[in-house]
Amino acid sequence: MESEHTLMEIAQEISQCKKCGLAGTRKNAVPGEGPSNAEIMLIGEGPGFYENEQGRPFVGQAGKFLNELLKNGGLNREDVFITNVVKCRPPGNRDPQDVELAACAGYLERQIEAINPLIILTLGRFSMARYFQTAKISAIHGRASWMDGRLIVAMYHPAAGLHQPNLKADIMSDFALLPGFIEKARSERDRQQAESEPASEDRQEDATQLSFF
Ligand code: URA
Ligand code: SF4
Repeated sequence: MESEHTLMEIAQEISQCKKCGLAGTRKNAVPGEGPSNAEIMLIGEGPGFYENEQGRPFVGQAGKFLNELLKNGGLNREDVFITNVVKCRPPGNRDPQDVELAACAGYLERQIEAINPLIILTLGRFSMARYFQTAKISAIHGRASWMDGRLIVAMYHPAAGLHQPNLKADIMSDFALLPGFIEKARSERDRQQAESEPASEDRQEDATQLSFF
């Protein structure tokens, strides 16, 4: 499959990348994993200790919690594509820096283009900032916005739920909204496709604004 091949090429480039300083301290780059035709893509922050060891995303404690959250949202981890805004571990799990985010952004953009997911879940504030530059995660978590043919949903980072028990309930209820988001996103894409077909003039104009529903 075409997109699968593209993703493999991107992963290959990432594994040898030296575009930022994180290359010097990584053990394994973590390109991401999941089906090349995934309907849902998750974007986290960056690899932690275990991810750096194994070269796979979300395999530590936060990953275990993420698997649980996905299950509660009616999804299997195997069905979603999971990656991060930076593909190499920031030492000591510090925040990724602006230069690192900028150096790495092209890989994520190409992954999104290849997969063309219907829904993107941003996990935490660094991936949220790609879509909602000035938003506060405490204000928009669990809310969705239709952008350029897909639904973007801002979620708290799973690690936040592990470290701050008062956020755990919020994260769980945000993920429980997923089945509804999937249904709405599918019908919005269908509606837009029907609209772009020639017979669309005959259709009733009932476009609903999907911003932050
Ligand atoms: N946290 C992240 O943001 N990404 C991972 O891959 C693991 C933990
Ligand atoms: Fe390259 Fe991204 Fe790794 Fe930096 S974090 S070395 S840009 S793959």
